[in-house]
Amino acid sequence: MNTSTSSNTQNWPAVRRTLEMILPLADTFAFMFYNRFFEYEPAARSLFKADMSTQRKKVINLLAFALRGLDRPYLIEKELRRLGRHHAQYQISRQQYEHLNEAIIWAFGETLGSNFNEESRQAWHHALNAITTIMLAAAAETKAMPAI
Ligand code: HEM
Repeated sequence: MNTSTSSNTQNWPAVRRTLEMILPLADTFAFMFYNRFFEYEPAARSLFKADMSTQRKKVINLLAFALRGLDRPYLIEKELRRLGRHHAQYQISRQQYEHLNEAIIWAFGETLGSNFNEESRQAWHHALNAITTIMLAAAAETKAMPAI
């Protein structure tokens, strides 16, 4: 992983605790953060299919994959780079990523209550910033590639 996502700067134990608690509630969690995100970014709704249940399943799988892979962060980074390239087609701005991150942190708080404490909040703020940086960088590389 690059320095922004290295084990030195990320609070992996706090990230792991949150993931363990959220997985049994993941469908509700995903429902809440997407609704919140579409309040911030109404125009983004039309990019998604009308039925969001498949999308929620994909996100839940990603959360489970992240939990399994926390001790192998290079695997997570590889998957995030793949996702970033996939997202390039939607021309997503940093502002939109930040709104999604804000919605995710809000939904953690709503779903987990006092179990999502200030330490968890900081840990996720940091992790989501790193995720955004990786995905945007991968998307930018896709755009920089010559058409073949
Ligand atoms: C933390 C950042 C994000 C993560 C981890 C993430 C994750 C994902 C995943 C796992 C998928 C499914 C990909 C697949 O089919 O293989 C997906 C699809 C998608 N994402 Fe994201 N995403 C992020 C940010 C965003 C943002 C900010 C937008 C803004 C509009 C967005 C728009 C989309 C769209 C339009 C799809 C396709 C939906 C469909 O096929 O109906 N994503 N995302």
